[in-house]
Amino acid sequence: MTADDMITAEASGTWKLGDLPVHRIGFGAMRLTGSAAFHHGTPSDRGRSLAVLRKAVGLGVNHIDTAAFYFSSLRSANELINTALSPYPDDLVIAAKVGPYRDHHGEWGTSARPDQLRGHVEENLRQLGRDHLDLVYLRRMRQDSVAEHFGALAELREAGLIRHLGISGVEPRHLAEALEIAPVVSVQNRYAVDRPGPVDDEVLRLCGEHGIAFVPFYAVAGETGERGATTAHDDAVLSVARAHGVSPAQVRIAWTLHQGPHVLAIPGTGNPGHLVENVAAGALRLTEEERARLDEARAQAG
Ligand SMILES: NC(=O)c1ccc[n+]([C@@H]2O[C@H](COP(=O)([O-])OP(=O)(O)OC[C@H]3O[C@@H](n4cnc5c(N)ncnc54)[C@H](OP(=O)(O)O)[C@@H]3O)[C@@H](O)[C@H]2O)c1
Repeated sequence: MTADDMITAEASGTWKLGDLPVHRIGFGAMRLTGSAAFHHGTPSDRGRSLAVLRKAVGLGVNHIDTAAFYFSSLRSANELINTALSPYPDDLVIAAKVGPYRDHHGEWGTSARPDQLRGHVEENLRQLGRDHLDLVYLRRMRQDSVAEHFGALAELREAGLIRHLGISGVEPRHLAEALEIAPVVSVQNRYAVDRPGPVDDEVLRLCGEHGIAFVPFYAVAGETGERGATTAHDDAVLSVARAHGVSPAQVRIAWTLHQGPHVLAIPGTGNPGHLVENVAAGALRLTEEERARLDEARAQAG
């Protein structure tokens, strides 16, 4: 057992997604289905993925991010979650994203029309074995306005299929649009220490102002995105990691959590060792000087 093994998600603190309290370190399910979820590569080892999910919950993770479109040839993230974790613990919050569409061959199709979103929500319900979803994000694809799609999800919320709503892949104007329609409890955007972005900085700030969670994706993967964890770490990340005796991935996660109490983490992994590390990153406290160094490196990456 390592020192990291002893640290649970509680160490990261808590945030409320609407009325649902979650630890700030959560888990992203996209990496459970294979080495590259969106391709037809090698499917994951089923037993290992199930073990990672059970270990995550054992380590206090109570916020899991998933989607029906996270599947490889033989694995579905939602089916793995259902098999590993149901009957679900009372405090577990499962967030699903809808909007993007993949056919049975895994090819990306056109994104859902507003009237198709009910079917997408129901697909998640069936796969997860639930009768309502705790949190559903509208993942904006190319639409300029989110009003029609978000309005359709707001109706499903009224109908009791969804408890809380979020939006993903958005700019400040989309957040303003959505807030006119229904409460938004969470925004999920791409955000990382090696990826400067004034628009996302502004979204993060606005979320803080409105008491909305900001949930970065690709915080560990960084610039390499869906291809997996980056190995091109800035010197500042490496030196902070050395100073704390932790990995660069842990510094990357800790840096995101230091951006505000409303920032949550959903690092994705199919590797039990990485899971332990990622949960432990919630206990990592960076000094002001370290944060300034990381912020400076980020600004220069632009
Ligand atoms: N809203 C959206 O559009 C959107 C888009 C993409 C993803 N997401 C969500 O966001 C979550 C996070 O994104 P993500 O999973 O792609 O990215 P991530 O957490 O930034 O990085 C995951 C990648 O890094 C590796 N990794 C994880 N922990 C590591 C560690 N401690 N040390 C070294 N490598 C590590 C993983 O490989 P191993 O499996 O080998 O650890 C995987 O390749 C996803 O799971 C998904 O739920 C949302």
